[in-house]
Amino acid sequence: MTDQELVELAFTMLERSYVPYSHFPVGAALECADGTIFTGCNVENSAYGSTICAERTALVKAVSEGHRDDFTRIAVVGNSTDPCWPCGACRQMLYEFAPDLTVLVARKDHSFVKLSLKELLPHGFGPKSMD
Ligand code: THU
Repeated sequence: MTDQELVELAFTMLERSYVPYSHFPVGAALECADGTIFTGCNVENSAYGSTICAERTALVKAVSEGHRDDFTRIAVVGNSTDPCWPCGACRQMLYEFAPDLTVLVARKDHSFVKLSLKELLPHGFGPKSMD
């Protein structure tokens, strides 16, 4: 699957987002080395802090299905002019399982920025930090 195809898959998730409070849908598509893809969307809550982001939805779906150390790329998309940058909590959660992850961050016109998670979270704290 090309980078653009992974981005397009993430865009299909925008319609599943539950965003009655922010009205800002976000979609994600997380790829595993074997080609399996876990998608996600943001799911908000009237207790705002209980909201889960699209990236973490995809990640917990994957981990709960037995994937842990085989993540290759994630696409993150939103209806924003700027790239829909992953929030700090999502960067940290992804770093736990995939410090070498490639991240595709898309704008509403479907163009995207490609960079590494380590660029987004330099000097990240992860399992190796506790050795
Ligand atoms: N959001 C995500 O889904 N991912 C991010 O990395 C940034 C923010 C969601 C959370 C909330 O539902 C909405 O975007 C506005 O913050």
